Amino acid sequence: MEILVAEEPGKDQLTIKIKDNGKGMDAETQSKVLDPFFTTRTTRRVGLGLSLFRQAARETGGDMTIVSEPGKGTLLEAVFQFSHIDRKPLGNLAETLMTLVTGNPDITFVFEYRGPEGDFRLDTSEIKE
Ligand SMILES: Nc1ncnc2c1ncn2[C@@H]1O[C@H](COP(=O)(O)OP(=O)(O)OP(=O)(O)O)[C@@H](O)[C@H]1O
Ligand SMILES: [Mg+2]
Repeated sequence: MEILVAEEPGKDQLTIKIKDNGKGMDAETQSKVLDPFFTTRTTRRVGLGLSLFRQAARETGGDMTIVSEPGKGTLLEAVFQFSHIDRKPLGNLAETLMTLVTGNPDITFVFEYRGPEGDFRLDTSEIKE
């Protein structure tokens, strides 16, 4: 799983990309995933992740797109207007990453952050070695 967070205040842009090599989605599934009541979870009847992600981007004048191929994986790309008053704060990225990594021990994460104060990269395969 690859996650990129890029803050570019100079371009007034925040970009988030999330790429996986999971099961992917066919065209029919993709047409339904932005519906908050579509989920393949069996534990609850709502699937909010993608619709809230797109809504958050759109509230800033940006957008979120999905590119997916069955059997290959999925790429989500969201662009936000960085300075928009409705742009949600990133919050504590370190804690979020910690939760992701420790909660999913079988998944290898490559996390990249790019921002005005520097870049950061974490590849959990290096830690596992
Ligand atoms: N990266 C992905 N690869 C394959 N299928 C996906 C992916 N992301 C979403 N889906 C499919 O789209 C459905 C809706 O996704 P969404 O993130 O909106 O909700 P959810 O994951 O079901 O629940 P929630 O995000 O609220 O925990 C999922 O149940 C799954 O079937
Ligand atoms: Mg989800």
